[in-house]
Formats: sequence, structure tokens, C-alpha cells
Amino acid sequence: MSQFNVFITRQLPADLNPLQQIATVEVWPERQPPPYDLLLEKTKSIDGLLCLLTDRVDRHLIDTGTSLKVISQLAVGYDNIDIAAATARTIPVGHTPDVLTNATADFAWALLMAAARRVVEGDRLTRAGQWQTWEPDVLLGATITGATLGIVGLGRIGQAVARRAQGFEMQILYTGHRNLELERSLRVQFVPFEQLLHESDFVTIHAPLTAETHHLFGDRAFAQMKRSAILVNTARGAIVDPDALHRALTQGDIAAAALDVTEPEPIPTASPLLTLENLIVTPHIGSASRQTREKMAQMAIANLMAGLGGDRLPHCVNPEVYQ
Ligand code: GLV
Repeated sequence: MSQFNVFITRQLPADLNPLQQIATVEVWPERQPPPYDLLLEKTKSIDGLLCLLTDRVDRHLIDTGTSLKVISQLAVGYDNIDIAAATARTIPVGHTPDVLTNATADFAWALLMAAARRVVEGDRLTRAGQWQTWEPDVLLGATITGATLGIVGLGRIGQAVARRAQGFEMQILYTGHRNLELERSLRVQFVPFEQLLHESDFVTIHAPLTAETHHLFGDRAFAQMKRSAILVNTARGAIVDPDALHRALTQGDIAAAALDVTEPEPIPTASPLLTLENLIVTPHIGSASRQTREKMAQMAIANLMAGLGGDRLPHCVNPEVYQ
């Protein structure tokens, strides 16, 4: 008889054999996430939960899991989980940092370049049969090399984006937590948020979603940006107010935006944002390289198994549970 019961909320690109040696594992087989009520029901009888950012793991659910020993999230961000509630129950929460840093920075860079040089519009125009000849003034975009980049949040992914920007000889500003060591090694300059908005040609968001960053990009922020600026968001959708973004893009307060994350997700097909030519939207695929997703799955299983065995999680977001 297995010692533990585990619920995994989606099929993963991972070998579950080692986990199955110590636990009875149930994997949710559908493409859509398990409904909240079903997750609640499952949580009543499990020792370990492996969840995704699409699962709402709130206080009620955590308190329902009376035998729950570990929550392991397949993502670096964990704003879908009530960490305080888990900590109150001394349940460690695992996540998957580092392995997705470069993949996500690459994708932010891909979006920045695609928006600056109007790659998606070019593809649409070509498919619509509108490529008639070489023209001096068609689809003119923004210059990337030598421009000023504003990074909101210089964590692991923000730093990886800064390293890419160096290759493009950009002036790099950042806001968030100040780090003098990084200012020297990455040649980045700390500035207040308003100054970053005023001076940046490109603004890229790499901050977690918190009460402070919720709708950080609203009417006020857009009004302070350059009219030629391009916004890139690969962090969390709710950092940008979608109605304010629509106003900014239609009024010309900023030139363009590229979003890999939206509020809500998925973006409703009827969203007025999807009618805009100067917006690129992708379906939250920042970390979606094959290797990265495999490493994330391995890491999430390692966190889960450590938690079941009563060992310290290799990557724990609430280490205070061990005090
Ligand atoms: C994806 O958005 C993640 O947080 O890993």
C-alpha cells in the first residue's frame, strides 16, 4: 500500500515512476483545469498537491486539506496560492525558479523585437495579399539598438533581460528593489518608477503580482510614458489594467504593447484589445520551451516528494515553515 495520496492537476512532461513508488498518484486528465469544487473535494483526502497557476489554492481549500503536507506549484510565480494560509498550517509551498529564467527572458525579448519591428503585422499583411512591392514607408517600426529600456522588477528574469539588452547597446533603467551589486555588474541604473516611465523607449515588466503591483500600469502610468513607447508584459496580466491599456493604445499615449499574460486569462475573444493592430497577444507561453517545461516538471515533482517525506523542499517559497 502506498504511503501517500497525491493529486496532480494536469498531465506533465515527466516520469512519475519515482513518485508512484511512494504515493498513489491521480492525474487530472483534461485540458481545462479541474473545477474549484472538484479540487476542494480531492484536497480533503490528499497528502500532496501538485498544481498550476490556473488553480485557485485559497485559504478555504488549504484548510480543507487536513492531511495536506506539501503544495508544489509548476511555475515560478505563486499568486494563485494563499501562502499565508499555507504557512499558518506549516505546509511548505514549492515552486520552479531558475530553470525558466532564460526561456522567459528570451520570450520577453522576442515580444519586444516583434512589437518594435511589427513582425506580426507584417505577417498579417503578407497573408492578406497586401505585399505589393518594396516600399520606403511600409511598416516602419522603432529602433532597438541604442534605445532606453525600462525594467520593472530586476529579479532573476529582469536581470536576464538586462543581459540581452546589453548586446543591443541599450541604456538600461530599472525600478523595484535596489541592488547596488547588480548596478555595477549589469550596468543598470536605478530610477524612480515615474522617471522610468518618462525616459524609456521600451518598458518590460518582470515583477510578481502583489497588492502593490496590481494595475500598476493604469491611466496614470500610461500618461507618463513616451508616446513612442512599447510595453511588454511577460509577468502577470493583472499588473496591467486592460481598459487603461486599450485607452492608451487607441489614444496614442503609447505606440504599442506585447502581452504574454492578460487579465483575465485567457483574454476573452470579444475583448476590444484584440481589435488593435498595435497589440500582440500570446497565450502565456513565456517558459514554453520543451526543455524548460521538462525541467519545471522534474523540479515540481522533487519539491512534492521532499514535502511528502518530511524533507526541506529544494525550492520553497515559505521557508519560515521550517523555523
Ligand atoms: C509562469 O508564469 C510562471 O510563473 O512560471
